[in-house]
Amino acid sequence: MALTGLFFLFYLLVHMYGNLMILMGPEAFDEYAHHIRTIGEPMVPEKGVLWVMRIGLLASLVLHVWAAVTLWRRAGQARTNRYVMKRKGYGNFYAKAMRWGGLAILLFVVFHILHLTTHTISIGEPQPTPSQRVVESFSQWWGVLIYVVAMVAVGLHLLHGIWGAAMTLGLNTSLKRAEQIRFVSILVATIIVVGFLIPPFAILLGLVP
Ligand code: HEM
Repeated sequence: MALTGLFFLFYLLVHMYGNLMILMGPEAFDEYAHHIRTIGEPMVPEKGVLWVMRIGLLASLVLHVWAAVTLWRRAGQARTNRYVMKRKGYGNFYAKAMRWGGLAILLFVVFHILHLTTHTISIGEPQPTPSQRVVESFSQWWGVLIYVVAMVAVGLHLLHGIWGAAMTLGLNTSLKRAEQIRFVSILVATIIVVGFLIPPFAILLGLVP
């Protein structure tokens, strides 16, 4: 769970950075969208690296969900009295938030791929280029709202996920270290949420041509 989660985190950082290209204008963004399809050419075929990344993401997703379900079952079995007493406290709250939040992110990713990769769904009028699709989508307040809700879910998932991954990998060797891990979780989750939300808000406010 921790390793596949860290791979997602790496992907999110790269994806967030790529999205910021829209601030440099539509040409820069379209060039970037084209570039991710031609990386490594002619050594690898067109979209080769992209497909390696997609397969890596899909395999990680399967493992991540499988690990979640396994842990969930184990936590259920560990409960001493199944019917009388429910576990209370933060542990239970986070466990629930991670499950429902994870499911919400999964639904968002399906919507997101239909929206910006396959263009099956459009927000606003359908557009021919990646930059025009992004600008059109985030010129609608409700388009921005959908992405804000999704990014909040992603941020909360990361907040606890980074913390949990650090625990699993045995990085919490002291109380001070645990505090540092908490700080890094908050910092990284904030960078990702803010970084992803800069383009939608910049577009909505008319700061992108
Ligand atoms: C405001 C936030 C976001 C924006 C503006 C955005 C934008 C985009 C765009 C434009 C594409 C299409 C790239 C292309 O085909 O040229 C894309 C693809 C994708 N995005 Fe996002 N994205 C955002 C957030 C996210 C988040 C939070 C996730 C994951 C939880 C994510 C996961 C993906 C995936 C999996 C793809 C498909 C990549 C592929 O296989 O081609 N995105 N995104």
